[in-house]
Amino acid sequence: MTKPGLLIVGELPAWDLEALSERFDLHLYYATEDKAGLLARGRDSIRAIATKGEIGADAALMDALPKVEIIACYGVGYDLIDVEAAKARGIRVTNAPDVLTEEVADMAIGLLLAAARRIPFGDAWVRDGSWKAKGAMPLTRRVWGKRVGIVGLGRIGSAIARRCEAFGMAVSYSARARKDLPYAWYPTPAAMAPHVDILIVSAAGGAETRGLVDHATIEALPSGAMFCNVARGTVVDEAALLDALRSGRIAAAGLDVFLNEPDIDPAFATLDNVVLQPHAASGTVETRKAMGKLMRDNLEAQMDGKPLLTPVA
Ligand code: 8YV
Repeated sequence: MTKPGLLIVGELPAWDLEALSERFDLHLYYATEDKAGLLARGRDSIRAIATKGEIGADAALMDALPKVEIIACYGVGYDLIDVEAAKARGIRVTNAPDVLTEEVADMAIGLLLAAARRIPFGDAWVRDGSWKAKGAMPLTRRVWGKRVGIVGLGRIGSAIARRCEAFGMAVSYSARARKDLPYAWYPTPAAMAPHVDILIVSAAGGAETRGLVDHATIEALPSGAMFCNVARGTVVDEAALLDALRSGRIAAAGLDVFLNEPDIDPAFATLDNVVLQPHAASGTVETRKAMGKLMRDNLEAQMDGKPLLTPVA
């Protein structure tokens, strides 16, 4: 029996490709130079697309592959998938929620500690002999016990909040609606900003949250505040963030996501009060295996005519 075609838009680990190849005829879009040729050849056989949060899938791709029934996202965020276009074409869309929640929350706390306590700087201080030559490194900033504000209290934001509680922090959050939780609620990040020492961004990306953490929010943070983003670069006014980091009004930031990844604003690399990660919050072997499995299970369910595990459309 011929296997259905599967377009793999972005690179996936070998274990996923191996497992997927048992069920599908794989078309590695990312590894092919002649992309138009690949799409033309697969026009009648490709029935599914596997994509990633940071790549998505647009209407043009859907139109090039009219036999596609499902777009499965290897990630929880599907803001770059044109879901309306998919719906209009009868294409199902799935994401990979839950399996990465705790991992991303770990990274938020890790980045915050790394930035506040200047862990990479301290590491370099030991390695380059500064410790021996100059003595103790400069003092850093406390994280535990501070007032933290979380922008977006969904699955990941809630997991971050639980960790912050364990650090003895007073937790606030901004969200459109108040939740039945023992945290202080603010309707907008700008309303919350004056009341927190640390702002952590964990809102979903997409048109609705574009620029949600705006210039006014960043201006409203107390001087010396700390900042962390594990959501999407689009949620933050990056120019305002860079200005605040340059002036030191935001004392430290841990950032996993940016505008224009991976070709990010080079200004970030010139700042010594930031700790940067290459959109790696979900990037452990354990979690990526779980994400790959969930994506495969969704793809196979569609091919078998079974209910999808985690549909978004
Ligand atoms: C990426 C993410 O998808 O889940 C998300 O929304 O942004 C990440 O987990 C991951 O880098 C896989 O490409």
